[in-house]
Amino acid sequence: MEHYGDVREALARRLPDGLIVLAGGVPVPRNFDVEFVFRQKSDFLYLTGVEEPGSYLLIDPRRSRSTLFIPRVDTHHKVWLGHVPGPGECRKLYGFSDVLYHDQLEQAVKKASAGYRKAYIEPAAYRKLRGAVRMANAPGALRDALEELRACKTPGELALMKRASMVSGAGHREAMRQARSGMREYEVQAVFEAECLRAGLRHLGYPSIVAAGANAAVLHYHRNDALLKDGELLLMDAGAEFRGYAADITRTFPINGRFTRRQRDIYSIVLETQKKCIENSRPGVISADLHVQSMRLIAEGLRGLGLLKGELDGLVEGGAVRLFYPHGLTHMLGLDVHDVTGGRKRRMPNPTKVPVRFVAKLEPGFVITMEPGIYFIEALLNDPKLRRKYRHAIDFAKAEKFLDFGGVRIEDDIVIRESGAPLNLTDVPKEIADVEEACGR
Ligand code: GLY
Ligand code: MN
Ligand code: MN
Repeated sequence: MEHYGDVREALARRLPDGLIVLAGGVPVPRNFDVEFVFRQKSDFLYLTGVEEPGSYLLIDPRRSRSTLFIPRVDTHHKVWLGHVPGPGECRKLYGFSDVLYHDQLEQAVKKASAGYRKAYIEPAAYRKLRGAVRMANAPGALRDALEELRACKTPGELALMKRASMVSGAGHREAMRQARSGMREYEVQAVFEAECLRAGLRHLGYPSIVAAGANAAVLHYHRNDALLKDGELLLMDAGAEFRGYAADITRTFPINGRFTRRQRDIYSIVLETQKKCIENSRPGVISADLHVQSMRLIAEGLRGLGLLKGELDGLVEGGAVRLFYPHGLTHMLGLDVHDVTGGRKRRMPNPTKVPVRFVAKLEPGFVITMEPGIYFIEALLNDPKLRRKYRHAIDFAKAEKFLDFGGVRIEDDIVIRESGAPLNLTDVPKEIADVEEACGR
């Protein structure tokens, strides 16, 4: 409760000269009489913690007041959907001094407008309030302020993220323990998701990726219906949300509980790369430089195995290593799995010679993922143009022997700290011996 009050105050301090209004999410119909499972809008969750649909938030910075507006619930609603917290309960649950019904919003905004010439009203709320508001509206400034604030996590938010990580970590460990050849990928998905649900975490941050063997080379694999086979690896990228805050965790483990020589070789390169990049995740470091570092380490490892040939700079800048590692190293994590990056002010030019999507100077309070990977992707390795372009850099004959391999990704969630080592929120075995032990065959 205190946490959400602090967050609203922080927003009011950034935008002290205007009324702030946000709309919560509303249920989305799926088909006649059925709705998609409701998940609150991230900005609204950030400021209120309210997970129920149909609310509004009014912040009056000059008078230091925040009001929550909730739907008026009729008898019909009570018959079909049961109890919904009323004003008294919401005051206690979410720490608001004022809770009104949403049909009182217009009147309340009109009244609070006195003394303001400006408003920060989110578009969804503005549609409802257009008639009532005479002030100039600056929704872009509200967007920027929220992104700036959301980028750096407070201790309250970190506690929520820790809980999402703990539960998701337990799900990963249970999946490692229970996965067996002969099962289907969705059975392993069920093990993970059951563990999260059992702990009360009903939302996932993103659809679970459970990819056995060659399927692991499909970066956003979602079919999750293939058989697990003895001797293959299983890649699982899955994370649940706690009060909207996501975990984003990937582990890759041997289905029969023992890595083969070849699997160890590839896995070790990814693991060492990830550990070094985590160690270097410090304030002031530019995320794009970390990505380039990860490309160099992976290129070096693949060159050691004879898959790549030539100078490291050329392999990285020329793009050969990207055929095996075609995604980013890191992204922000929070209320969205690919979370806001901190608004325009922090957007900076990419100082490296390779294309990178997420470029930011790391700051204390950022939570970022670290997720290097190596994949053997048929669409890339058998592309005639790429084969011509990289014939001096890649041993394609050797790479073809790995087309049944799939891939390895290892992904942890890291808190950047003012001083000292970065804090790893993810507690799932990743050293080879520990993974084999967790598989427990
Ligand atoms: N699970 C999505 C990602 O790793 O970015
Ligand atoms: Mn990720
Ligand atoms: Mn992931």
